[in-house]
Amino acid sequence: MTADPLEAVRGRIDLDRVPFTDRLSRLLVFAERERDSLWIGLAAYEAPASERVAVRRLRPTLAGAPLSATFSARPDRVDIATPAGDFRLAFADPETLVVRVPPGETGITFELPHGGHAPVERPDRAFIGGDTERWLSWRGVASTARTGPNGHPRVSLRPDDLNAGLIAIRISDVAASPWPAVADALERADARWRAWFSRIPAVPEPMRDMALHAWWVLAANQILPGSDPRRAGVAPSKIGYVGIWNWDACFHALGLRHGDPEAAKDQLRIILAHQLPDGMLPDVIHDAGVLASTADLPPAEQGFGLPAGWDPAMAIPLIKPPLLAWAARAIWEIDGDSAFLREVYAPIVAAHEWWLRTADPDGNGLFAFNHPFSSGLDDSPLWDGGPPVESPELSAYLALQCDELAAIAEILGHPAESTRWKEQAGRLTRALVEHRWNARAGLFASTRHGRAIPVATPFGLMPLLTGGLPAAVARRLVASLHDERRFWPRFPVPTVALDEPAFDPNRMWRGPVWLNINRLLVEGLRRSGFAAEAAQLRQQTLGLAMQHADFREYYNPLTGIAPERAAPMFSWAAASYLDLAMAEVSRG
Ligand code: GLC
Repeated sequence: MTADPLEAVRGRIDLDRVPFTDRLSRLLVFAERERDSLWIGLAAYEAPASERVAVRRLRPTLAGAPLSATFSARPDRVDIATPAGDFRLAFADPETLVVRVPPGETGITFELPHGGHAPVERPDRAFIGGDTERWLSWRGVASTARTGPNGHPRVSLRPDDLNAGLIAIRISDVAASPWPAVADALERADARWRAWFSRIPAVPEPMRDMALHAWWVLAANQILPGSDPRRAGVAPSKIGYVGIWNWDACFHALGLRHGDPEAAKDQLRIILAHQLPDGMLPDVIHDAGVLASTADLPPAEQGFGLPAGWDPAMAIPLIKPPLLAWAARAIWEIDGDSAFLREVYAPIVAAHEWWLRTADPDGNGLFAFNHPFSSGLDDSPLWDGGPPVESPELSAYLALQCDELAAIAEILGHPAESTRWKEQAGRLTRALVEHRWNARAGLFASTRHGRAIPVATPFGLMPLLTGGLPAAVARRLVASLHDERRFWPRFPVPTVALDEPAFDPNRMWRGPVWLNINRLLVEGLRRSGFAAEAAQLRQQTLGLAMQHADFREYYNPLTGIAPERAAPMFSWAAASYLDLAMAEVSRG
């Protein structure tokens, strides 16, 4: 435990998996320790930073010669320790990095990537074409060279004002954008991050450092999507997920509300601003537009999860589970802003009605996802047989949404509408129990064209979210959850039952624990009146997260280790952690 919030996060930004970055910046700074150097990549939709390299081998120098260096990052800066003294690197603005060098003949050197264009064109800037399409400019006394006959162009820089000891580099899509003030960049970065950390309310002491890291993740992953730069949205992770995902946004709002309710509201506004005329909400908002249909996917991915021979002309809408009303009211619980509820009520109702209209083709009052992406469970074995999947969690999410819309209608002074929503929630819950309760399995069943899909997952427990199940059914679900052979290994809750042939502890949605799914199950337990069981799962979930320095996309339920492919600095894991830790304060 470290008193200074910036120091508490130091090292969690390990520069290996977790880059040094800043709110709204697309620059990701990583270390290549075996070369005593840093490199800078760009955060882009569906492209790893290693394929968007803007700067290679950035090294501290003395008298032009590279120094050995060790790197250590905290939110506001990277400390670079060298035999010639300490260098510091910080953001002056989202596109500009400043390096403060120690006194002496110190400087930095770095290489440009191989670009498709003429690399060094002017003494103070270069177009780094290739995959980045950016301009790199610098401030300082520069000399340029090549690393070899076919090598990368190299730039060496010294401060032009020896007293200030500052060098700056800027990576921008504009050739000659105005420079920000750089003189006090380090102090401003420190102040900016301290202001951010001052917003986070206290959590129990043992959870504090991880909560601070969560709060860093929720700022560091903020971006302005190129297609809609009006509001800052939290990306799921600047590593691999650079866009705004629909249901992720709801979890992000749940975390952000505790320290920045306005940012929480913006997460929902970003999704709602892209509502289609028929009420549907797109799956993703990204730099080039929205992902709202399989037709928006790259051709190679258009058949993902669909049976062989699927005709791509039969475009399928892509959406995500309906959690907006839940998130909206959760924000209201913190700040009581009814105007926000008034703003979002009608669009959320329109989105809700889209499901009612389009997702119940057999008319049994239960709802089906038409694409794995829409369920949010891309690789789940529930989808191995293709669409549609009539999953109990969708009807449960819709019932939860009805309950929340009922509460919102009440707050807004529409009692008749509120009653209507409550009735709809009741109908959904009854239909689930009548048609999908499998007493033998102690789970609600997922079906495809009326036939049960023979794979047990904790999504069959989600009807707990309705809070309205017959007591015996709810008790049976809790017993299933606590069954060590199925859903209660050392690190609950696996996303596929442990005894299923399809269970794989490391493969996305085929077994690993996801903190947001645990967050939903905690909610279900609470709503169904199992406060002690909710607290137990909450504490287990917090405990799992606290075993790690960072928040990962998912975790192995048997070992607690994050599989290699689980993305780092993961926002909904951070947000779920924070929200659960706050519930520890109120014991809610
Ligand atoms: C993966 C998940 C999906 C999530 C997205 C962003 O595609 O399957 O549920 O919304 O990542 O986190």
